[in-house]
Amino acid sequence: METTERKKVMLSGIQPSGDLHIGNYLGAIRNWGARSDDYDCYYFMADMHTITVRQNPAELRRRTLAQLAQYIACGLDPARNTLFIQSHVPAHAELGWVLNCYTMFGELSRMTQFKDKSQKNADNINGGLFTYPALMAADILLYQPDYVPVGEDQKQHVELTRDVAVRFNHVYGEVFKVPEPYIPKVGARVMMLSEPERKMSKSDPNGCVFLMEKPEDILRKFKRAVTDSETGRCVYYDPQRKPGVSNLMDIYAAVTGKNYEDIEREFEGRGYGVFKPAVGEAVVEYFRPIREEAARILADKAYLQSVYRAGAEKAAAIAARTLRKVYKKVGFVER
Ligand code: TRP
Repeated sequence: METTERKKVMLSGIQPSGDLHIGNYLGAIRNWGARSDDYDCYYFMADMHTITVRQNPAELRRRTLAQLAQYIACGLDPARNTLFIQSHVPAHAELGWVLNCYTMFGELSRMTQFKDKSQKNADNINGGLFTYPALMAADILLYQPDYVPVGEDQKQHVELTRDVAVRFNHVYGEVFKVPEPYIPKVGARVMMLSEPERKMSKSDPNGCVFLMEKPEDILRKFKRAVTDSETGRCVYYDPQRKPGVSNLMDIYAAVTGKNYEDIEREFEGRGYGVFKPAVGEAVVEYFRPIREEAARILADKAYLQSVYRAGAEKAAAIAARTLRKVYKKVGFVER
């Protein structure tokens, strides 16, 4: 089925800044594998973006490879998706510089992520943190994608990318395709086990279940999940009054395919002491194949290397075409 040329192009970057958790998977990644039926998909590990915040080098290297292995295990088939590491394709840095010169100080100053991150990293408000959106615009525009799937927090950066593309095209003609943000249909919205009012995130390791966690640790976290003190300790769905139980029901539904009525019936007359470990067990079993496959891939260094090298080679060829055009347009002498 070699019709990739006719498919619309989708591209997204993923920062290797933390370990993946079940909220990432059930909320989003779970649906990514199927996208390659309809789109020509590019995904890269955005390691160049990650160093805008100080990193431990060994950890960054480990996480970049671990995340790549996990994404493959989650269904991003390297035969059907172009998977690569940003720093392996120098055109990102090269176009990033050029686009820095077409992105305004005022625009960069308005980015809410810059404001947030400079508050959180007050001792390291570096130039890269500020010009990050110009690099992101380069990441995107190099591949002339139709769609850029991103979460809510990255929409402003995609809007800026569009503005920069339009501005550049206005001066030099149609160089860049102006991409659309693609807001994926949301999967399950998974909340913290420790604070069910907050979306699951790595900020509290006790409330967050990572994909690669050991089964006994996963079970322990579920057994300690915050519920409520309603007498009767009844399992029923009511996100307002029973956020903890409702979150556990959502997770259970996502991994078993059961609906709320099925679940309510299954645990009728049985307390949280039965319900919580049952959800934990179901999660352990659901993620077992992914966990094992990711571990297997990560241990197979030669395979992983062949994936990211092939990905970088394909990406570099496409990126080079756009970069050459840009260099010519702005007036650089051809080598
Ligand atoms: N900025 C994105 C994030 O923090 C990651 C990213 C970098 C990205 N380059 C991109 C996303 C290009 C989409 C397209 O999540």
